[in-house]
Amino acid sequence: MTPGARVSAAIEVLDSYLSGTPVEQALTGWARNHRFAGSKDRAAIRDHVFDAVRRLLSSQALGGGTDGRATMIGLLRGQGRDPSELFTAEGHAPSQLSQDELASTDDMDRAQRLDCPDWLLPLFDESLGQKADKVLDSLRQRAPVFVRVNLARSSREDAANMLAEDGIVSRPSDLALMALDILENPRKIKVSRAFLNGYVEMQDAASQAVIEALDIQPGMRVLDYCAGGGGKALAMAALGAEVTAHDLSWDRMKDIPSRAERAGVSIKRVRESELNKLPPFDLVLADAPCSGSGAWRRAPHGKWLLTPEKLVQIQSAQKDILRKIPAYLTQEGVLAYATCSVLQCENGDQVQGFLGESHDFHLISERQFTPLDGGDGFYLSQLKRG
Ligand SMILES: C[S@@+](CC[C@H](N)C(=O)[O-])C[C@H]1O[C@@H](n2cnc3c(N)ncnc32)[C@H](O)[C@@H]1O
Repeated sequence: MTPGARVSAAIEVLDSYLSGTPVEQALTGWARNHRFAGSKDRAAIRDHVFDAVRRLLSSQALGGGTDGRATMIGLLRGQGRDPSELFTAEGHAPSQLSQDELASTDDMDRAQRLDCPDWLLPLFDESLGQKADKVLDSLRQRAPVFVRVNLARSSREDAANMLAEDGIVSRPSDLALMALDILENPRKIKVSRAFLNGYVEMQDAASQAVIEALDIQPGMRVLDYCAGGGGKALAMAALGAEVTAHDLSWDRMKDIPSRAERAGVSIKRVRESELNKLPPFDLVLADAPCSGSGAWRRAPHGKWLLTPEKLVQIQSAQKDILRKIPAYLTQEGVLAYATCSVLQCENGDQVQGFLGESHDFHLISERQFTPLDGGDGFYLSQLKRG
């Protein structure tokens, strides 16, 4: 496909997304109907679409409309490119720009400039103060790709060398000891020998830094209460912890056994009804459901799906989880609360609310990572009794 034909395809996908189809579904739907498109074409179309979703408000302002075509015109302008070079009507490229489309404006308000829903701006200001605009701007960029080197199988240097043999260029990340920042060929990772043999796992560097901050010791009994796909459970198991995984949704944990086998570690999965029958844990981690605001580079559609009502529901789930988990902790155990959010109302405010109710706990550490640190935005606090 020509670059212009890829733009036409992105317009089609964006029209489907803008009419309410989830973005991944819109992309797979397009690919199913256009089987001639190769993997490079699909990757390029995906990049256009995700770039546009990350920058939806500014692209629509710069493109002078709200459909897929206007969004792509505005996206290219926002990227400093001249859309006329791709809108040529040649070789399946979109038709040439009309007089109206040629008349561009760069008059944008703060929400448009930062691609942030209006109602969220005050929450970002309250949470991040002077850093709010920089963090919002970072969420308009593509996310870097990181892997975690599996200490149970390899060193960071050996894993980097093995990735390099498959053409994947990396460099050590400053954010976490076992993190490699992937500089070239990230799409090859999942078919690389380093990945298939369990030497590396895909994991954001801040997510890894959260685990490093937990002071995991070999043999420590850990409950990952919101384990999901097991990213953090695997990282803790690689450090020698005896990890039990739990999630409200059993289905979300379905890949944990195969991921654990590949990594050479063992992780037991349990349901809530079984938790009471187990001895208490030295560490309970609640990597709680959240707005995902720290990871909107990676999952930009989340930014537009969040509503004030949904945020209230999420906060209520976080509060319930914090109230529940002390029951699974030893007297001296550490309660760790984490989110991939940068919003104070899901982070520090939740912990303060919990401390206000549970007078036998105190805060031992608190850290907020933002995308300005290099990885996703993450929050972690650790609490103890006494
Ligand atoms: C942020 S994700 C976890 C990501 C995971 N820890 C990782 O590192 O890959 C949050 C998880 O919490 C789960 N969850 C939501 N409500 C819950 C609840 N009340 N109790 C336990 N898990 C819950 C969700 O199903 C989701 O998988």
